[in-house]
Amino acid sequence: MASLRRLFTFALFSYTFFLLISPSTTEKVTVSLYYETLCPYCANFIVNSLAKVFENGLISVIDLRLVPWGNALVQANGSFACQHGPNECLLNTIDACTIAIYSDVARHFRFIYCIERLALQNKVDQWVNCLGLTGLSRLPMDCYKSGYGKVLEQKYASETSQLNPPHRFVPWVVVNNQPLQEGYQNFMSYVCKAYKGPRLPDACRSILLANNSLKKANTRDAVCYAS
Ligand SMILES: *[C@@H]1O[C@H](CO)[C@@H](O)[C@H](O)[C@H]1NC(C)=O
Ligand SMILES: *[C@@H]1O[C@H](CO)[C@@H](O)[C@H](O)[C@H]1NC(C)=O
Repeated sequence: MASLRRLFTFALFSYTFFLLISPSTTEKVTVSLYYETLCPYCANFIVNSLAKVFENGLISVIDLRLVPWGNALVQANGSFACQHGPNECLLNTIDACTIAIYSDVARHFRFIYCIERLALQNKVDQWVNCLGLTGLSRLPMDCYKSGYGKVLEQKYASETSQLNPPHRFVPWVVVNNQPLQEGYQNFMSYVCKAYKGPRLPDACRSILLANNSLKKANTRDAVCYAS
């Protein structure tokens, strides 16, 4: 009996150890995007920059976390106030629900991308179509209506308020705990530099070479400031 327990303990220990050393979990670079759905600069970043990591293969070394709260506030009575109005609160919550229900990043990113592309085209009122277009069910809407989405958003509000240093604007990109601040458009070169795994993705070669021409975002017109 005792030896069986020892064997079990050993197996559990080995498994835990395996999880700890497994390259896919430990060597990935964590990229967190703090954003709000209707900030046009978030939409531009998601559609025209972030989406590229799914095309160039960089996603294989990224643990991508999307945090849809941004500059929203929790009011004294518990309701949310969003920078771009009630529709933004709705869509932030729908994103939170989608991330929770479809935890696979490629799956929920496709949906979030769809909404942000509509936002860039001033057609965000058609967002419900994104569910069907990206092969998702209507579960995110049920999540919103049930109030569970609000619980998820409270969690994201709390995470966002605990950023250190605090975010000054969105999109706010953090790579392995380093906030890129005005340099967020260059996130790919930060990822390539931070990656210490065995095989640097091919895309990193050109990304690191192109670094010379990297420019800082012009924050005067490329972000939504926290009020
Ligand atoms: C909560 O407070 C805000 C601002 O004080 C107000 O506009 C809103 O109507 C209140 N909501 C509810 C549900 O009481
Ligand atoms: C870009 O390259 C220069 C050296 O040419 C280096 O000092 C700088 O840190 C690099 N920047 C980024 C964002 O990789």
